[in-house]
Amino acid sequence: MAWRPLTSALLRQLGPRPSDIIADIGCGTGSFLALLGGTAKWARLIGVDPDDRILHRARLKLEAAGIVVTLKHGYLRDVGALLAGTGVNKIVSSLVFHQVPLAEKGAGLSSIYSALPPGGELHVADNGHSGRNKNTGTHHRCH
Ligand SMILES: C[S@@+](CC[C@H](N)C(=O)[O-])C[C@H]1O[C@@H](n2cnc3c(N)ncnc32)[C@H](O)[C@@H]1O
Repeated sequence: MAWRPLTSALLRQLGPRPSDIIADIGCGTGSFLALLGGTAKWARLIGVDPDDRILHRARLKLEAAGIVVTLKHGYLRDVGALLAGTGVNKIVSSLVFHQVPLAEKGAGLSSIYSALPPGGELHVADNGHSGRNKNTGTHHRCH
């Protein structure tokens, strides 16, 4: 699945609501945050990525679009500490999990779990392999 239909599906699944505080982990240059901020203008948004040059590009893109986002430097495994006290209730991640080692996937999921309150949500859109089939899609877990 190409990026646009994948992230459109992710946005529909996420179903942003006015009270939401949403963090995008591995936000890259902020393309999904721009889509989200353009659709859910009320949502409080946080982006996390470990690449400072990419975060700089995200900052420029989101400022130009007039979208207010708090950007933080960090890895999946840092999410619990980075998001402590933010009140985040939904976490999204697109096209990140497939490219990190298994240990980072596990540490990232533990860290995300610790960041979310009861009833919080994790939404992941990614590529993966199941047997001989390559799957691309969105996945959703509640805390
Ligand atoms: C393919 S890009 C996807 C960017 C964005 N989520 C999107 O859908 O357009 C992968 C991003 O994951 C980030 N990344 C790589 N390893 C990571 C990790 N361990 N934790 C969090 N982000 C990571 C990269 O810096 C990069 O910005």
